[in-house]
Amino acid sequence: MTENEERPGHPEAAQLLDWYRANKRDLPWRRDRDPYHVWVSEIMLQQTRAEAVKGYYTRFLERFPDIPSLANAREDEYLKLWEGLGYYSRVRNLHKTAVLIETEYGGRFPESAALLESLPGIGRYTAAAVASIAFDENAIAVDGNLLRVFSRLCAYGENIRQESAKTAAADFFLSVLLKEQEKGGAFAGDFNQALMDLGATVCVPNAAPACGRCPWSGRCRAHLLGKERDYPAPAPKKARRIEQRTIFLIHYDQKIVLRKRPEKGLLAGLYEFPGSEGHLDAAQAAAEVRSLGFSPLRIRELPGAKHIFSHIEWHMKGYDVLVDETEPAAGDGLILADRQDLDTKYSVPGAFSAFRKELSFR
Ligand code: ADE
Repeated sequence: MTENEERPGHPEAAQLLDWYRANKRDLPWRRDRDPYHVWVSEIMLQQTRAEAVKGYYTRFLERFPDIPSLANAREDEYLKLWEGLGYYSRVRNLHKTAVLIETEYGGRFPESAALLESLPGIGRYTAAAVASIAFDENAIAVDGNLLRVFSRLCAYGENIRQESAKTAAADFFLSVLLKEQEKGGAFAGDFNQALMDLGATVCVPNAAPACGRCPWSGRCRAHLLGKERDYPAPAPKKARRIEQRTIFLIHYDQKIVLRKRPEKGLLAGLYEFPGSEGHLDAAQAAAEVRSLGFSPLRIRELPGAKHIFSHIEWHMKGYDVLVDETEPAAGDGLILADRQDLDTKYSVPGAFSAFRKELSFR
């Protein structure tokens, strides 16, 4: 077989890189390779789609244009800029790492994947993505997209969630990259981002992949077998824990009652509408609101809502509660917020967005 013949399971980086140059997504974090910019974008892109990240990325950098400004930021301010992105530990770690870089690294951004991986919030994937994009390190950033591309290209039938699959995929793509570099150079950051784009726009999950637009269709074992939908092998499903909750929108003096969540655990330190465990009927809900220090005058059930976290599902009931404003508001740890406070000051996570939509400030 000659070098130019198509060999299943042996893709060439050049084919992918040509495709990337012609088709790459125009994303705001691709306009430069500043390590701080790359790092912020990669943290936002953990568990979040590129389209959803765009606006957050721009706003975050407008407010915190460099590492010192982030290191000196107040918690409520950076949490507010993260509102709606979810997984808030990401931004707490971003801040922690900014402080570490200022204090332990003399303000210099660590330049290798190994060092980056020792910092809060930076795992193997993010370390490889940042080191390859910002510093040209030959590291492969293995995520779900890339594992799917790998499993189809190689007709790899094992469970791709296992560590062994991640190692196999990293080794495989590294050899493809190194082979191209022997021929005259390919940049690891482009190669990783080309793989990300291929996975996100062509070799997609949960639908027929667009093999007609794939630069590697002639090298893809699954495609050549007509079995691209059989890869990756489906994972054994793990059930999420279901928690029932009841949420109260308590209106008091043209304000809404909020409460800060505990500093540890799910949605730590963010603000919520008060609630309680279980699905309460209206009488139980009124009693619960009374125990918070208010006298309910009227209570109205709202449409229910669900929110899915990685390991838990909240199945929520909600009540809109009008309380007696002639009595003083009581209740430890409760906050009265007006619309402006809610829009600019307190970070209420997306889990409550269905109820937030129901809010009426009179
Ligand atoms: N997902 C994770 N990192 C990304 C990047 N740099 N570009 C597009 N999508 C991504």
